[in-house]
Amino acid sequence: MALEKPTGHDRKHQERLLQSGEVPRHIAIIMDGNGRWAQRRGLPRIAGHHEGVNSVRDIVEACGQLGVKYLTLYAFSTENWKRPQEEVSLLMRLLLKALRDEKDRLHQNEVRLKAIGDIAALPQDVQDELLDGMEKMKKNAGLTLVLALSYSGRWDITNAIKGIWDDMRSGAIKRDEITQELVSSYLATSEIPDPDLLIRTSGELRISNFLIWQIAYSELYISQSYWPAFRRKDLYAAIADFQRRERRFGMVSEQLPQNEPGRLVPLRGMERFLKSASKL
Ligand code: IPE
Ligand code: IPE
Ligand code: MG
Repeated sequence: MALEKPTGHDRKHQERLLQSGEVPRHIAIIMDGNGRWAQRRGLPRIAGHHEGVNSVRDIVEACGQLGVKYLTLYAFSTENWKRPQEEVSLLMRLLLKALRDEKDRLHQNEVRLKAIGDIAALPQDVQDELLDGMEKMKKNAGLTLVLALSYSGRWDITNAIKGIWDDMRSGAIKRDEITQELVSSYLATSEIPDPDLLIRTSGELRISNFLIWQIAYSELYISQSYWPAFRRKDLYAAIADFQRRERRFGMVSEQLPQNEPGRLVPLRGMERFLKSASKL
């Protein structure tokens, strides 16, 4: 199995990105705007979902080439079950077809497939195809592709609370052992690091019940492109933007590892301020 290599201009873009800073270890994407993309073209909403599969293929491939370790795609939310029955059913057919059509190519690209969400709520044939794909790709060491299906952040947290409750009752854990790390370990993403970069397409400024616990310190990037139009050049723009950010995790700039030498000198202006303050 060998990863398909980027070519021509694309290779240049990727090389530039890899030189200009760190590539996020985990990118999560709220793939939104399929329906509007189609309606703008006078097409039915499903045509947007259909074209969205091509964006998935392009983004998965580019992430693999760039050495991104985890890519989580919000493909179907708990709330999306409330859409018209016809759209839900077409979406499930499309998901099944995409899994079938893409499996070999994903495997060839060393992708490891995972799924998070209430998988048991999906049609049986989709569940079977997912399990088959995950089994086939479980030993791959390239990109881990996490599909969020029938997923919501509140579902995830509620599920985690049930698990913790069960293990407390059986005596496996005690109250004082409940830490943030322990809670994380009961979530569907227990083996996946928190996202570094969260992208939402179609310009919407909301989280829509995605990974609400896990994105506590993710960098947010909103793209105006509808998902079917979002391709690797847009991904590169998002990563370049991410590379310009300073992630402080509640601290001040001088404390960050990359600013290590600065830690030996007093925090900028702090000493002077303390002196003048003591005269007050
Ligand atoms: C995202 O596109 C795909 C899913 C939620 C399944 P939408 O279907 O939400 O498209 P818009 O947001 O209505 O344009
Ligand atoms: C979020 O998109 C869910 C997915 C992308 C799967 P929605 O289109 O469902 O979100 P809202 O309804 O606009 O918040
Ligand atoms: Mg939408």
